[in-house]
Amino acid sequence: MPDYKHKYRYPLVDLKKEYEAVGEETLEAIKNVVENGDFILGDDVSRFEEEFARFCGVKHCIGVGSGTAALYIPLLSYGIGSGDEVIVPAFTFIACPRAVAMTGAIPVPAEVDYETGCIDPSLLEKAISKKTKAIMPVHLYGNLAEMDKIREIADRYQLVVIEDACEALGGSLSGRKTGSLGNTGSFSFYPSKNIGCYGDGGAITTNDSELNEKARSIRHYGNGGPAGINSRLASIQAAVLRKKLPYLEDWNEKRRLNAEIYKKHLQGLPVEFFKTPEDSVPVYYLFVMKTGKRDELINYLTSKGIEARIHFAPPIHLLESFAHLGYNKGSFPVAEKLASEVVSIPMHPFLSESEISEISCEIKRFFENQHSEP
Ligand SMILES: Cc1ncc(COP(=O)(O)O)c(C=O)c1O
Repeated sequence: MPDYKHKYRYPLVDLKKEYEAVGEETLEAIKNVVENGDFILGDDVSRFEEEFARFCGVKHCIGVGSGTAALYIPLLSYGIGSGDEVIVPAFTFIACPRAVAMTGAIPVPAEVDYETGCIDPSLLEKAISKKTKAIMPVHLYGNLAEMDKIREIADRYQLVVIEDACEALGGSLSGRKTGSLGNTGSFSFYPSKNIGCYGDGGAITTNDSELNEKARSIRHYGNGGPAGINSRLASIQAAVLRKKLPYLEDWNEKRRLNAEIYKKHLQGLPVEFFKTPEDSVPVYYLFVMKTGKRDELINYLTSKGIEARIHFAPPIHLLESFAHLGYNKGSFPVAEKLASEVVSIPMHPFLSESEISEISCEIKRFFENQHSEP
C-alpha cells in the first residue's frame, strides 16, 4: 500500500496535492458535520448515497465502512455462506477472497486474461460447480472486466454477479457506469482511490430493492433482518466524498491523459501495458506495466526517489491464508506470471507532463543500463 510520508520525490499517489486542490472545502464540510453532531447515518450519508447512485446510474447506494464490507454485505444479503462457493479472480487484492471467506463460503479462483488482468471469460466455466452461488469479477487497476460475457455465463448458471468496482470509480462499459454492471457493485473509498475518504469508507450500489433493504439492515447490526454487523459510512467521510465527487470525471480524464503520455514515452521498451476491452473507459486507479525485470526496475526507481510497487503478489491461490484450499504453483499460470511481472508507477491527476517525462526517462535509463551490462 502507498506510503504517504513523502519519502519519494514522486509518490504513487500525491494526497498532499489533492488536499491543496480540495482541502478547504472538505474541511468546511467536516466542520459542518461536527457542529451539527450528525456523525452516524447523518444527512451527508443519505445525500451522498443519492448522489452516488445517480452518478452510477442505479436506484440504490448503501454507504458502508470499507470496500471489504461492500463485498461482504451483499454476499450475506444473498444468503451466501457455509457450503457455498464464490468465484474470484486468481489475480486480485486479498480483500476479495477474504470477504468470501468471512461468510463461511469458499473462494474459488478463476484464471485471468494476460491482456486485461481481469477474469478470462473463456476459462470461467471451469471454475463453476454445483456449489457455486456467485461470481465476483474485479475491474483490476481501473481496467474494465468483460462484464457482458461474464453476465451471460452467470445468467446461464443462475449465479449472482458481485461486481468489485473498488478500483474503477467512474469507469464505464458501453456507456454503462461501473457499479451498474452486476447484481451489486462494490466500491472502496480508501484514501488512495480515485476519490477517497480521509480514512476508510465504501459503498454498495444496486437496482435490486430487496438487496438494498437487506444491506441497509446488515450494515446496522441487522436490526429486524438477517444477522448484521456495524459497518456504516461515517457522516464525516460522506461529507468529504460529496465534495470530491464533482471532480471525479475530470480527475479520471487527467489520469487517462497521463496514461497516454506514459505510453508514448515508454514506447519501444521491453514493457507491456494492459489492454482495455472494446467500448470500455478505464480509470487508471494504478498505472501498471509488465516486465521480466520487475524487481530490478523497482530497486532502480526507488533509488531515484520514484515510488514503484507490486499490486499484487502472490496470486490468490498461493496466499498463505488460503493454503488450505489446496492449490499449487502452476494451478493458475497466467495469474502467477502477472504476479511476477507487474509494477505500478506514479499515477494521479496532479502529475504534470514534465514529471511523467522525468519518470519515463529514468525507466528508459534503467533499460539502457541493462543492455550495456555484460
Ligand atoms: C479490488 C479491491 N477489492 C476490495 C478492496 C477492499 O477495499 P477496502 O480497503 O476499502 O476494504 C480493494 C482495496 O483497496 C481493492 O483494490
